[in-house]
Formats: sequence, structure tokens, C-alpha cells
Amino acid sequence: MLKLGVIGTNIITDQMLDAAKATGKYELTAVYSRTLEHAEKFGKPYGATEFYDDIDKFFEEGDFDVVYIASPNSLHYQQARKAIENDKFIIVEKPAFVNPSEYSAIESLLAAHPKARLVEAARHIHTKIYQAALKKVDEMKEHYVQGATITVMKYSSRFDKVLNGSEPYPNIFTLKYAGGALMDLGVYAVYGAVTIYGEPESVVYFPTLTKTGVDGKGVAILNYDKFTVTLNFGKTANSHLYSEVYGLKDTLVFDSIFDTRKVTYYDADQNAHPIEAPVEENSMTDEMNDFADLFNNPDDEEEMKKYKHWLELSKTVNSVMYSLRQSAQLVFPSDNDQE
Ligand SMILES: NC(=O)c1ccc[n+]([C@@H]2O[C@H](COP(=O)([O-])OP(=O)(O)OC[C@H]3O[C@@H](n4cnc5c(N)ncnc54)[C@H](OP(=O)(O)O)[C@@H]3O)[C@@H](O)[C@H]2O)c1
Repeated sequence: MLKLGVIGTNIITDQMLDAAKATGKYELTAVYSRTLEHAEKFGKPYGATEFYDDIDKFFEEGDFDVVYIASPNSLHYQQARKAIENDKFIIVEKPAFVNPSEYSAIESLLAAHPKARLVEAARHIHTKIYQAALKKVDEMKEHYVQGATITVMKYSSRFDKVLNGSEPYPNIFTLKYAGGALMDLGVYAVYGAVTIYGEPESVVYFPTLTKTGVDGKGVAILNYDKFTVTLNFGKTANSHLYSEVYGLKDTLVFDSIFDTRKVTYYDADQNAHPIEAPVEENSMTDEMNDFADLFNNPDDEEEMKKYKHWLELSKTVNSVMYSLRQSAQLVFPSDNDQE
């Protein structure tokens, strides 16, 4: 059983703990929160026995092997550093880090702490249905492919606060916490493009800004050698569009690129063929299983191969996200305070 400590006590941590339970491979032991009272309130129902409001003590004294970091985006970097320095296994929520400078500093630190492992919780790439869909894309590539259109857009109830002018604005709508549509939902779309077609040659982002300075929604174009991929993402509107990968006369259609439950291949005659694969009720279960396999066998050759692939993917996504931001002159305070 892997002992688990958590940072961040909002809904996503509940979902992760539900998935962790479904795997039968983790037990929650320690909770860090900004207040001790809240750490206890959150952790006791899950059976946690250690509670901290001091992050250094949490890492130095906490009885856990794995830490799950689900704090506001701009805090991931410093928290992950502390975790690596304490030789932990780390699951960091997406987007793992804010820019390539943070990413390379983390890489160097990981190299200095060979017992530590760090994975980004890009849950969709671990699901069986998404992996089956990627295999179909490989088959399509043997013939002809012409890019994709990926949409991830859902109105966030937290945007009501921005509209109402009720400060402090939610972290995800602030530059301070590296928020905005690209960082929050766009990252899934970027992961989609990168897992399907690899790293683009150039990118451009056209954001619609909110009054807090972050992007509320936007359209990004990723240029590849022979085609483009269009990303359409946002938190200030609802979209009901599917995501599509284009062959010549054939198309692969995803109901959602990040909470994928149904993928359909339409052949050249427009006949529909569902992609068959088991789908977990909680879409974080597959990633929690994959991560447990790595953490239980951290030096196994096959596990290391997968681990290196996830890291490489995560680094590419980080770099594409940064280029998109640069193209739109979207700057976060974190961009200026590297160590
Ligand atoms: N994989 C997914 O599907 C998914 C879904 C949602 C979110 N996420 C990711 O999970 C992370 C957290 O997102 P969220 O929406 O839960 O964020 P959030 O509500 O803004 O904050 C998460 C937690 O961080 C702590 N926190 C809040 N404000 C803070 C501050 N100013 N300083 C220090 N700590 C603070 C709080 O825990 P305490 O009160 O206990 O300190 C809070 O529960 C983000 O990276 C996000 O992208 C992933």
C-alpha cells in the first residue's frame, strides 16, 4: 500500500482520492492545508491521521511515500521542489509548471535526487479509450491525415465572481496564480494535439481577455509541416462541440478530449465504428493505477520507459503552452521570479 499525502483540499482532491481508493493501492495518511482545522476536517473522513499547516514539517515529518499536489498553478513549482528534496514520489496536477525555466530547474533537481519521481496528472492520456483512439490515429496516419480541431470549453461558475466584481477573484482567474483558460482547460487540448501529432513547428494564440488580465477563452493554431491543428478552449462560455481528427475522407470523433467516454471512427463511406475500450466511472482511476505501478517499481526498466515518456510529453506540453502565451503576450508574475 502506498502512503499518500495531499496538498490542496478542493474537489479535485476528492476525485483523486476516490480514484485512489478504486485502485486499492493507496491509503491517505497525511494532509497539508493552510489551517490545521481544515486539514483535519478534510482528511479525517478519509482515514488520514497526520495533519499539518506547516509545509516544511509536512515534508520532513509526514509519513507518506507519494504526495499529490493540487494547489493553485503558480504554487506547484516551490511545493514540488520541497517534495523532490525529500525524495518523494510526486503527482502534480496539470499544468505541472508555469514555464520552461521552472521545468528545467525541476529536471535538474530530479537528476540530483534519483529516488524521487514526478508525474503530471494528465488523466486522459492514461485512459484505455484514449489509448485505443491514439492507435486508430496511427492507422489513419498510414494513409492521410490533415490535422484536427479540439474543443474544451465549459463555463466556470467561478467566473460569476469576476462578473460580479466580488474580490478577491478566484485563483484560476488571476495572473498571480497562473490562471486562465489556456492554463486550466487549454492544457488538455495541447496534450491532445501533442499526443496525436507531436510537437508543432510554430504556434499562435488569440485570447479573449477578462478584466482580471487572464484569458477567459481563446483560439490557438498549431502549425505542423503539412497541416494545422485548431484548439478552441475557454472557461467563460459553454461549447457542445466534439473534437475531431481528420483523415482524407475519414474522421475520428472524440466526445471529449479530456474526459473521453466515447470515440467514433467514421470511415470513408461515413459509416460509424465505435472504438471499443473499457471506460472507468472515475476518469482519474487509470492514471492512479499507472502511477502506482511506477511508484511500486521505481527502477523497473519498463516502468522507467513509461516514466521518461510521460516526462518528455509533459515537458513538450509545457513548452508549447509557453510559446502560446508568448505569442499572446500573456505574462504571469511567476515568469519573472525564477531561482
Ligand atoms: N485534473 C483535473 O481534472 C483537475 C480539475 C480541477 C483542478 N485541477 C488542477 O488542480 C489544481 C488545483 O485546482 P483548484 O481549482 O482546486 O484550485 P483552488 O481551489 O484555487 O485551490 C486548491 C487548494 O489550494 C489551497 N489554496 C487555495 N488558495 C490558496 C492560496 N492563495 N495560497 C495557498 N494555497 C491555496 C486550498 O487548500 P487549503 O485551503 O487546504 O490550503 C485549496 O483547496 C490546479 O493545478 C488545477 O489545474 C485539475
